[in-house]
Amino acid sequence: MTTNDLHNGWYLLALVEELTETITPVRIGHRRLMLLRLADEVVFADAVCPHRGADLSGGTLLRTKRGNDVVACPFHARSFRVGSLTRYPVMEKGGMIFGRLTDSDSGDRGLAALLGELLQGDVHSAVHTTVSAEPRLIPENAFDIHHFAPVHGVPLVMNARTRKDDAGACHIHATFRTGTDPFAQEARDDDPAELVAAVRGGADSQDSEFHAVAVSPSLVLTRYGSTPDDPLVVTGVLPLPEGGCAVRVAISANLPQEKLQHAVAGAERAFQQDIPVWEGLTPGCDHLDVLDGTVRAFRQFCAGFQTIPPVAGDTSCAGATSGEGK
Ligand code: FES
Ligand SMILES: [Fe+2]
Repeated sequence: MTTNDLHNGWYLLALVEELTETITPVRIGHRRLMLLRLADEVVFADAVCPHRGADLSGGTLLRTKRGNDVVACPFHARSFRVGSLTRYPVMEKGGMIFGRLTDSDSGDRGLAALLGELLQGDVHSAVHTTVSAEPRLIPENAFDIHHFAPVHGVPLVMNARTRKDDAGACHIHATFRTGTDPFAQEARDDDPAELVAAVRGGADSQDSEFHAVAVSPSLVLTRYGSTPDDPLVVTGVLPLPEGGCAVRVAISANLPQEKLQHAVAGAERAFQQDIPVWEGLTPGCDHLDVLDGTVRAFRQFCAGFQTIPPVAGDTSCAGATSGEGK
């Protein structure tokens, strides 16, 4: 697969706080999908009406007299048992809803275990926006080691290396040498050259560990800092049907409110620094060179996923039954 195809790995579908009480529409490229909030579970399913293809995510979720959960279509009001819809794996963890577009475990890269290890509590939303750029660029960004200096003002990046873990997730580790407050934008604005010179010289600097792990071509977990209290940043991307992508950045941190706000602001600012570069790239001009080994590692990781059809086929209709009495 290419890194922009739909794939069999995990997607960050939504934060729990975004879910409605009933049906929440989800788009992954041209795939119309939905999250259904039932009494004791969240269901991730195709939103293509088995009758004539209307978007079921605009329908109504009902409980019948016989106790069945059904979705009534907004077009001709036929209703379909939730159990008869094409459903997909879904996982709720840390205030986030993750899903995959296949039942096969082959696209799993150990997300549950990684979250169990790295999460520090429910996430806080930092960014939820659309970007006019190829979806793959956003997770790949963590592996693009040579952009941290020019785009984010990190004075020195050292010892970058990648590895695959036993579950197949792709990690990158590096050491960032920065000023004593790596989020202090003011210092860079005042005199970036002076800051870079000072930090490279070792004066008033600190070294922090940077660790990111790609779980799929659309999902990366990033940790920056050298203590267990350092926040985890979860970045998920969903391709949009018209091109570009929807991006969510969320932060899991066990920090006092003030420090948490600082971390959220830092993640927002970093994202804003990346956007103009991503949106200004010329499509088709993409030539990796000898310095791009870590980007290449991410793309090789992506190539290991299976491609999922860009639109739901007849399988979304198979087995669905309508006419459920209310
Ligand atoms: S298209 Fe859904 S009931 Fe007709
Ligand atoms: Fe970046």
